[in-house]
Amino acid sequence: MMQNIIITLMVCMATLSAAVVGADFIPYPMKARHWMIGKGRRGARPKALDDASSTVSTGFFEVARPVDMPSESKLICTAPLIRSFLFKDTGESDPSTSQFAPCTTEPFDRVVLRWRGTCSSRQFARISTLWMSGIELLRTSTPEFANEGGSWSVDKDVTRFTCLFKTVRKVALQLNNVLDVDYSGFFNISVYLDFYQTGTKRKYASPDLSVAPSHRIKAISLPNPKDGGYWFHLGGDNPQTISKEVVGIPRNPYRATIEICLSAHNDEESWYTNPPTDYANANNLTFGNGPFREVTVSIDGTFVGSVWPFPLVLPGSFDPMAWRPVLPIGTATLPSYDLDITPFVSLINDGNPHTITLTVVNSLSEWLVDANLHLWVDSKVGATRAGLISYNAPDFTPLDNSKFSGPNGDFYLSASRKYSFAGWVEDSKGNYTVCVSSLLTYSNALIMQGDYGYQSSDLTIAAQNQVLRYNDTLLIATYKTSSSFPFQIKCNQSDAANDSVNLNCAIAHGMTSDEFAIFEKGSFATSLNNTQLTSGQLTINSDNTVSGATGSLHQDYVYTGTSGCYQRAVSTSNSAIVQDSFSTVCKPCRD
Ligand SMILES: *[C@@H]1O[C@H](CO)[C@@H](O)[C@H](O)[C@H]1NC(C)=O
Ligand SMILES: *[C@@H]1O[C@H](CO)[C@@H](O)[C@H](O)[C@H]1NC(C)=O
Ligand SMILES: *[C@@H]1O[C@H](CO)[C@@H](O)[C@H](O)[C@H]1NC(C)=O
Ligand SMILES: *[C@@H]1O[C@H](CO)[C@@H](O)[C@H](O)[C@H]1NC(C)=O
Ligand SMILES: *[C@@H]1O[C@H](CO)[C@@H](O)[C@H](O)[C@H]1NC(C)=O
Ligand SMILES: *[C@@H]1O[C@H](CO)[C@@H](O)[C@H](O)[C@H]1NC(C)=O
Ligand SMILES: *[C@@H]1O[C@H](CO)[C@@H](O)[C@H](O)[C@H]1NC(C)=O
Repeated sequence: MMQNIIITLMVCMATLSAAVVGADFIPYPMKARHWMIGKGRRGARPKALDDASSTVSTGFFEVARPVDMPSESKLICTAPLIRSFLFKDTGESDPSTSQFAPCTTEPFDRVVLRWRGTCSSRQFARISTLWMSGIELLRTSTPEFANEGGSWSVDKDVTRFTCLFKTVRKVALQLNNVLDVDYSGFFNISVYLDFYQTGTKRKYASPDLSVAPSHRIKAISLPNPKDGGYWFHLGGDNPQTISKEVVGIPRNPYRATIEICLSAHNDEESWYTNPPTDYANANNLTFGNGPFREVTVSIDGTFVGSVWPFPLVLPGSFDPMAWRPVLPIGTATLPSYDLDITPFVSLINDGNPHTITLTVVNSLSEWLVDANLHLWVDSKVGATRAGLISYNAPDFTPLDNSKFSGPNGDFYLSASRKYSFAGWVEDSKGNYTVCVSSLLTYSNALIMQGDYGYQSSDLTIAAQNQVLRYNDTLLIATYKTSSSFPFQIKCNQSDAANDSVNLNCAIAHGMTSDEFAIFEKGSFATSLNNTQLTSGQLTINSDNTVSGATGSLHQDYVYTGTSGCYQRAVSTSNSAIVQDSFSTVCKPCRD
């Protein structure tokens, strides 16, 4: 019986071709006692979750600061985008579409996307994206639901997309779900846009896009949703690179950013623990290419910036029991990445079409990538004048120190990359120069010992970015950001009764980020430290089913900013919340 079910799942996968369903069954080449961290967990069936007791909470959530809303804010109106759409066996069929129509002619200065979802019964975590006119507004992963199903909700500040909300537009929501006898959960999704007047003054020069939204946005995505979405499929049998010709770029931009949206699936779901290819080949693994990925952006063949992405843990990854009901960092609202490309305005403001290329370096199957080109235009001039002043983007080579014998090995990889660009733009206010510089660093130690008995990975990805704007006489604005993404996992596995194995894993991961901005009409600073610690055990049978699972989590979220503070501490054990407290009192510095 179980054999049949597994075969059915594999057939599903095959017909979906590299299905992107966020979290799918991955046929795993190894026997149960050869689990490798980050791999194959999808094939394991968390049967233990059926035994859910009544204390189990079914409302899933990601710990985050609520959308910043001053107390005098007024809700003006709500525009429904998707009303109770049921995602059953949607696979990679066309997305659910609807029409957005503005619900107000009054001024608004804050827009919040409100997502409400339920799932009827057991289902894997699935990836989902909402687009408006092909422009990505939200990417979210569903939770991984147990038999009793449940609900989750996401609120996202989408004020940065304000320029889209003035006219009627096509909305598309893709959620690639697959149903079978065991994973029968279907999703019921509603999405709304809430329009607020907060009384916040627009600060057009602010680096914060939620107070200074762009005036035009161009989609860097498929023109029509193919295989179920506007996103590009990169890696594996698909190329690692995609180019899109963008037409209709206005001639008068004075500022430009590219927002990159991405998620990694299948053999790439936990790309940051992938071993090198020679090890993968020697051990008959389908996933390799090592644990380093870079997403680069070029305009007409010129590199203009890159992202070393957050090592996202999906809600079914490693130990699914650890992520109930508190979701892994960054899964309810997947992070997008902003690159300031103002130094390159001279490449795009000539009225001609331009080619934007997105590449996921080293990607296997498969990455879902698209991007939004944000432009700020000066309506007082027909065209801005602009020029590139300096360009400095040296090649870099990751430092690789690896050795292995059979399944055991030590793999050390480190890399750093620095680039900086300067360009001038002359608009109706004058001629100024923008300098953008980035320093990216990466280090990873992957250790495999005792014939898969002990495995660990210790990773840190960090970035420091700076944007300066000045003219001949003074520094006008500065915007500095830094981020660090630590990820550590340690796993033991040992033989247990009936040819099963016990797999014990402990994870520590997090996201810290700081921002500091001074500009013509204001300043702001924020600091976030968001960490999750988990531990748990899976008992995996020789047929890849799970006969027992435990998981516990502790999360500390500490946000300090010039618009307020927010801290929350949550602990869970086997799907139940055992502690949850929050405060808006700023926390004193610790040593
Ligand atoms: C979907 O959810 C809505 C409420 O959000 C509910 O009214 C409706 O009955 C649900 N549909 C199904 C088929 O469960
Ligand atoms: C890899 O697969 C080949 C062919 O099936 C087999 O001969 C070899 O023993 C396998 N190696 C390992 C390490 O499992
Ligand atoms: C704007 O300033 C830059 C840098 O000082 C200079 O190279 C450029 O020629 C100036 N542009 C105009 C139109 O004067
Ligand atoms: C530089 O900008 C400041 C502030 O906008 C302005 O007062 C000053 O005249 C500008 N200098 C030049 C040379 O344009
Ligand atoms: C792995 O097993 C060793 C020896 O039993 C133990 O010291 C260690 O704490 C275990 N690690 C984890 C992550 O369970
Ligand atoms: C091993 O399998 C047998 C038969 O399926 C079962 O009766 C027994 O309880 C199992 N033992 C353990 C420790 O799970
Ligand atoms: C973030 O918080 C964790 C504990 O919650 C702490 O161990 C870590 O040092 C903090 N990181 C930074 C950069 O402050």
